[in-house]
Amino acid sequence: MKLFSGIVGAALVAAPLMFSNAAVAGGADLFKAKGCAGCHGPTAMGAVGPRLAGQMEKYVLEQFKLIRDGKRASGKSGMMAGAVKSVTDAEAADIAKYVSGL
Ligand code: HEC
Repeated sequence: MKLFSGIVGAALVAAPLMFSNAAVAGGADLFKAKGCAGCHGPTAMGAVGPRLAGQMEKYVLEQFKLIRDGKRASGKSGMMAGAVKSVTDAEAADIAKYVSGL
């Protein structure tokens, strides 16, 4: 167990150093895996939810957290909040980086 967590820890530390684009690639996968694409469109150009492509990274991340945490209850944000409860801040940061670059 100790060895295992050591390996995971090393991978977590090494990954960002080895692949500077890792967050973007991970963001693309997470955007689909976490269901964002289902509401915001496969290329984040908007569908049920608004367009995220090309939005400022910081704005996307902040708004995401506000909606997830129930602090932004505008319009149809309630339908999203329930669907993204399990998405972590780190995952959201990767997704924000990805969509802002589209
Ligand atoms: C069930 C549908 C649904 C899912 C799943 C969903 N969203 Fe949304 N999202 C919405 C809707 C609808 C809004 C618009 C909320 C409003 O009316 O204010 C929104 C708004 C947003 C906004 C704010 C956009 C802006 O211009 O202010 C961000 C950022 C966002 N979503 C990110 C995400 C991310 C990242 C995921 C995946 C982890 C995700 N959403 C998953 C439906 C969804």
